[in-house]
Amino acid sequence: MKIQIINGPNLNFLGKREPEIYGYKTLDIINNELEIYGKNYEIELEFFQSNHEGEIIDKIQEIYNKVDYLIINPGALTHYGIGIRDAILSTDIKTIEVHLSNVYSREKFRHKSVISDICIGKITGFGLEGYKMALQYLGNLDK
Ligand code: DQA
Repeated sequence: MKIQIINGPNLNFLGKREPEIYGYKTLDIINNELEIYGKNYEIELEFFQSNHEGEIIDKIQEIYNKVDYLIINPGALTHYGIGIRDAILSTDIKTIEVHLSNVYSREKFRHKSVISDICIGKITGFGLEGYKMALQYLGNLDK
């Protein structure tokens, strides 16, 4: 099984960015842990991060018909990135939405997601574990 993980704006700053909310691990450390975790399920992972909506759209189009699932944390674009929603719809890629923080315990504007309703599901508030939960779910499908 091949899975693309996409992280959006400011997630390249993990470790430095508001660590009391997002933790002290860098994105590289997180991705390394996920790579190892995915092996338990024979999952091949591809990683991509961008601060730019257009680059994320390009990536989603690029993986069209090439990967089985997408796990995405669109960062702030979650709340208004209609272009990302349209890219997921255009490519019909089966997607899980993940957030490190619990968006529902934060500001009101974070409660809205423009992709939740077109995703398989959404995991929010469990930090790095959220990505692992998504991998575990997908890895156990068809077993
Ligand atoms: C986030 C939550 C978003 O509201 C925020 O803009 C982010 C990170 C999270 O992982 O908790 O950049 O997606």
